[in-house]
Formats: sequence, C-alpha cells, structure tokens
Amino acid sequence: MPHPLHTRVTELLGCDHPILQTGMGWVATPKLTAAASNAGAFGFLAAATIPPAEVEDAILEVKKQTDRPFGVNFLMDAPGADVIAEAIIRQGVRAAGYNRAPDAALIRKLKQGGVVCVPTCGAVKHAVKAEQLGADIVIVQGAEGGGHTGPIPTSLLAPAAAEAVRVPVVAAGGFRDGRGLVAALAFGAEGIAMGTRFLMTAESPLPEASYERYRRAEMTDVVVSTALDGMPQRMIANELLARLEKAGPVRKLWMAFQNALALRAETGASIGDLLRSGLAMRRNQKLTNAQLLMAANAPILARIGVADGDPVNGYLASGTVAGLIGDRPTCEALVRRIVEEAEQTLSRLCP
Ligand SMILES: Cc1cc2nc3c(=O)[nH]c(=O)nc-3n(C[C@H](O)[C@H](O)[C@H](O)COP(=O)(O)O)c2cc1C
Repeated sequence: MPHPLHTRVTELLGCDHPILQTGMGWVATPKLTAAASNAGAFGFLAAATIPPAEVEDAILEVKKQTDRPFGVNFLMDAPGADVIAEAIIRQGVRAAGYNRAPDAALIRKLKQGGVVCVPTCGAVKHAVKAEQLGADIVIVQGAEGGGHTGPIPTSLLAPAAAEAVRVPVVAAGGFRDGRGLVAALAFGAEGIAMGTRFLMTAESPLPEASYERYRRAEMTDVVVSTALDGMPQRMIANELLARLEKAGPVRKLWMAFQNALALRAETGASIGDLLRSGLAMRRNQKLTNAQLLMAANAPILARIGVADGDPVNGYLASGTVAGLIGDRPTCEALVRRIVEEAEQTLSRLCP
C-alpha cells in the first residue's frame, strides 16, 4: 500500500510532502518559495506583484536558493501574462498556478512546455471547468481562506470537488497542522495548500509590526468584506477596513485613483496597461465601473500591510486560521511538525 502522505500531488510536483505554499502577493518572494521547497513542501512564487519583465530574474533568484522544484503563480488576464508564461517554460519551472480567468491558449502552451498546471478555484463548477481546460491538479479554496474567497467552507468544497473531478484535488483554506492534512486526505483531497500559515514563518517578508497583528488576531477578528475591491476578501479587521467601510463613493474614488497612480509608478505599467487590465478584470469578474475603480486599491494597500509593515493603513489579507496561529517557525520546522503530527494522527486513527 502506498504511504497516505505520498499522493499523485507529490508525484506530479516532485516534492516530499503533499503541502503547498500558495502564491501570496508581495509575500511569496523567492526566499519564502525556496524555503518552502527546501523544507520538502512545494513553494509558489507570487508573480502577480512583480513587473512581468522581472519575473524571470525572480525565478533565477529562487533557483539560486533551491534545487528543489517550485511553481510560479500569476494572473492570466493581466498584461504581460504571456511574458511570464514564456519565462516559466524557458526556466523549466515545474508548475504554474493561476486562478481567475483561465486562458485556454496559455494553458495549452504551458502544458506543451511540460509545466504542471495548478489553478485555484472556489466552487465545484469552476474546478470542473478548470479540469476541462487542462488542469493537472486543482486547488480548491474554501471560505475560511485568506484574500479573495467564496462562500463554501473547505469541509464541503474539498469532498465535493474531489468527487467531481478526476485530477487530484488540493484543499486550501484553514490549514495549519498535521491533523488538518489528515482531514483533507479523508475528504478525498491529495494535499493541502496554505497561505496564512506560510505568511507567518521566519522566511516570510512580513514585517514585525504586521506579524504582531496576525499573531494577536482572534478567529472572530478575521472578517469578509467587499469594501476593498468590490469582491469578497477575507482579512484582519483593522483601521483601514473601518475607514473604507465608512467612506462614501467620492472618497473611495479618490483613494482608488491615488493608488492606481502609485501602482503605475511602481510596476512601470502604462495607463494603457492599467486600463486593459482593469477592463479584463471587469469582463471576467463582472464588476461595475465603481468596483473597477475600487479594485485599483487592492495591490497597493496589500503591499502597505504585508510588505511595508503598516498594519494600520494597509490591507491584511488573512485566513480565519490566523486566530489559531501564535508562532513564527522556519519553513523547515513547520513542515517537519506538520508531517510528524500527520503521521501520529494516522497511527492514532488506524493503530
Ligand atoms: C497575505 C495573503 C496574500 C494573498 N495573496 C494572494 C494573491 O496575490 N493571489 C492569490 O491568488 N491568492 C492570494 N491569497 C490567497 C492564498 O493564496 C491562499 O489561497 C489562501 O491563503 C489559503 O487559505 P489560508 O490562508 O487559510 O491558508 C493570499 C492570501 C494571504 C493570506
């Protein structure tokens, strides 16, 4: 009998353990990605917050720090997605992660280039569609998960998705330990993907002041709001969120405008790029004009919260699980602990 912790996911991704570190914007840097992979998990580099022309250098940076396989997560409907896909293929990156707006032609190209395609979905019907479009593994993120999130809890979404698709499913949303990993396997998933837990590790770039907010958060402090970009996002309730929820449309518009300009200055995106990205987002997410303007807020506010270390004025994307996490281990110690606890849990259940 194969060992329960060796699954089709560990086979396809070439990692030791069925544990994925997700592509969190500003957080999943080369250092964190390499540390997760070196620990025997599978790291995803977040490319959505790197100018497309610089993604190849970031991939090379990961390669300097690990010889283990890793992935790159990017937005398929953002300007420069083709540049990123080419860098992934050229550099022989093991896997590509993506979520909203899967692009059939780009997926075909990645697969022809030998890249394992790993989309993230928040609903069973999206998982089925993702499989039809060529996914090799589908991550399903339940409502507990950090950042953009759907309404279905992981405990229902993971088993329903595992029944609905033939490719292996990875469960995301609410995982932090070995008991959770075993529960995911029991649901029919073949691994777990964790955002918040890896955000709170020694190799994560999260500055101390922001880390303290996450460490001190109770589960009830982690809320879902549409105030940030018009779509439901799970985050730690802080001063910024209180301000945004109170702001009228004119104030929000002004904030969105300022943030879009800041994003432009930082990423080198032209006004045309921003407009194209915004219009694609509106088409794919069915956003109204007002929501579209609000969406320009999100990346900069996230940077302020998780990279600049200002937990008062920044957006603190977080899973509910932050309320149960109170330490900052290295990726190595974390992965070892999860695997040991999973082994103990399996022997407790099946002595
Ligand atoms: C700080 C933070 C940033 C995130 N950024 C992104 C992102 O840029 N793109 C994305 O697809 N998901 C993003 N997510 C969602 C995660 O990739 C992942 O799906 C989610 O965190 C899983 O739930 P968990 O936090 O309970 O582990 C983010 C999550 C967090 C906590």
